[in-house]
Amino acid sequence: MRLDRYVSQGTSTSRSEVLRWIRAGRVLVDGVVVRDAGSQVTPGQHTVTADTPGETGQLVRPPGHIHLVLHKPKGYVSSTEEGASPIVLELVPPQWQHRDLAPVGRLDKDTTGLLILTTDGGFNHALTSPRRHVEKAYLAELDQPLPADAVARFAEGMDLGDAAPCKPADLEILGPTQVRVVLREGRYHQVKRMVAKLGSTVVALHRERIGGLVLDATLPIGQMRFLTPSDVQALGVAPAPERDR
Ligand code: URA
Repeated sequence: MRLDRYVSQGTSTSRSEVLRWIRAGRVLVDGVVVRDAGSQVTPGQHTVTADTPGETGQLVRPPGHIHLVLHKPKGYVSSTEEGASPIVLELVPPQWQHRDLAPVGRLDKDTTGLLILTTDGGFNHALTSPRRHVEKAYLAELDQPLPADAVARFAEGMDLGDAAPCKPADLEILGPTQVRVVLREGRYHQVKRMVAKLGSTVVALHRERIGGLVLDATLPIGQMRFLTPSDVQALGVAPAPERDR
């Protein structure tokens, strides 16, 4: 989007005032003064700062919503509130720290893998709503093999003592102690509880997919990237249209 529009929306300042800032060399893109109001900046890729009346070198918030794909490491809690343990939001680069990002659903502290973070509450709700049945696929390492009827038990909808039995889930046996589980809902510790119900213990858990969106093999643990239009297509649930992209 145009630099003047980005700064105008990001600082809630009129375009004419922002034009004056830009001409006066008070707006920097990635640390370099840019005097062309029509130069293109991409929210999420460029860092824009401006000398505003209130602050020299103020970081300009990018307009519109942000959606990120995180390769969650172990040891981080999927929460927006700080506590005794580190939270996934601490992994967000400084330029996005002040945005209202929230994780889409939860992964346990010791679970790794695909976690989406978004500022768009409607998108978050659509991805987690039980009515949508968005699939989530997990790789689990177990302490011991599951019984012979495990695939059928997962498929019939297991009763974990919650208000309602689980929705049917897919279990794929990959090896004696390695399985893939596909859920269509998201309950507390669900994979671990389903496995425990059959007498085994999950010793490592990794989410590899949400809907049709597979975690990139090249995204290092602890790193994140922006959600692309093809990711959105793969998820099958669209965020609200961005203003102005
Ligand atoms: N099921 C679990 O038990 N833990 C997770 O983090 C996700 C699904």
